[in-house]
Amino acid sequence: MPGIRGPSEYSQEPPRDPCLKVNAKASSPFFFEPFNAEPPRSALVSSYVTPVHLFYKRNHGPIPIVDHIENYSVAVTGLIDNPKMLFIKDIRSLPKYNVTATLQCAGNRRTAMSKVRNVRGVGWDVSAIGNAVWGGAKLADVLELLGIPKLTGFTTLGGRHVEFVSVDRCKEENGGPYKASIPLSQATNPDADVLLAYEMNGEILNRDHGFPLRVVVPGVIGARSVKWLDSINLLAEECQGFFMQKDYKMFPPSVNWDNINWSSRRPQMDFPVQSAICSLEDVQMARPGKARTFELKVSIKGYAVSGGGRGIERVDISMDGGKSWVEASRTQKPGRDYISEHNSSDKWAWVLFEATIDVSQSTEVIAKAVDSAANVQPENVESVWNLRGVLNTSWHRVLLRLGHSNL
Ligand code: MTE
Repeated sequence: MPGIRGPSEYSQEPPRDPCLKVNAKASSPFFFEPFNAEPPRSALVSSYVTPVHLFYKRNHGPIPIVDHIENYSVAVTGLIDNPKMLFIKDIRSLPKYNVTATLQCAGNRRTAMSKVRNVRGVGWDVSAIGNAVWGGAKLADVLELLGIPKLTGFTTLGGRHVEFVSVDRCKEENGGPYKASIPLSQATNPDADVLLAYEMNGEILNRDHGFPLRVVVPGVIGARSVKWLDSINLLAEECQGFFMQKDYKMFPPSVNWDNINWSSRRPQMDFPVQSAICSLEDVQMARPGKARTFELKVSIKGYAVSGGGRGIERVDISMDGGKSWVEASRTQKPGRDYISEHNSSDKWAWVLFEATIDVSQSTEVIAKAVDSAANVQPENVESVWNLRGVLNTSWHRVLLRLGHSNL
């Protein structure tokens, strides 16, 4: 009836770019498990807005199928006076906003965390992140259309949370759909820019990224930006789904699989300040030419981003283990200076940074960012290690080897 369905197997997945690095278990071919893939590091810093085909893809089940777009509707139910079915034309009739926002999986940089101690989860390098221009209606306008005023914390019937439910079939939900929620106060705040998006980078959203409609919650871990939206429910409590209650929470390093108490922690929402070097691989060999004394100019490029709409005040680069630092330049839109927290900057989007460094010997290159609330990335991954491997925001380190060897 609602025109969208979640298949139970993977025979009808969309085509994907061959340059994406697929995260698949070695024992099974990836097309029998959810498709999770990230672009090579260098692709991330080649443009401020990430091209759709290079944008990371994080799925928990087979990609849903829309049979008849004209039948597609979203049911708005729960603790609301006037439950309603919304068709895509209803959503499109509301003012359209283009919001440039960075989406980041909470598991970005998990692989580095798993080197400290084993963690469970998809093994991401530094590219489970991307920056897109999302086009769609503001959720605050949609809810207003249904009688819930802007800047409201609760409905007359006691709704305080807005749950988004999809149609994909997820193993973790025992074959049920992916779901998540955000507080009603955030959903009804026009400045929070929460979107029901039908476009990505000016194109109709594609299947991998949520066609025909997805939620985009800027500044919040990607897990709350539910794709293939099927229903919106007004709830008294936050969503009780697996991905809110038994996943995407950050535990202290002392918690293990024997003593974990999921209900003792809040679902993660905003992501912390993050940065990563993308112009170098983990161990990069640089050849300085034939001269006996090595002197090389190395361009260090990467991204920095913080959650909650906080700007990036600074990105520091160190070549001596953190004893001394130089400041990198920051940009968003080409040809325009980036000023953190300024009207001219995209508050939900990453900044790209660059520094050119003289290198005379093999060294570790380190990047760390500072956000507009003076939050700084932690020095060591050990201090933020957690059994699910989420939110590795430790200083990003890359080993740069200098020499003539063909290693
Ligand atoms: N929505 C649905 N319905 N199913 C999913 O598996 N994955 C979530 C989120 N929304 C997911 C979902 C996670 S964990 C992330 S990080 C983002 O979607 C990834 O969005 P992308 O694939 O468009 O990059």
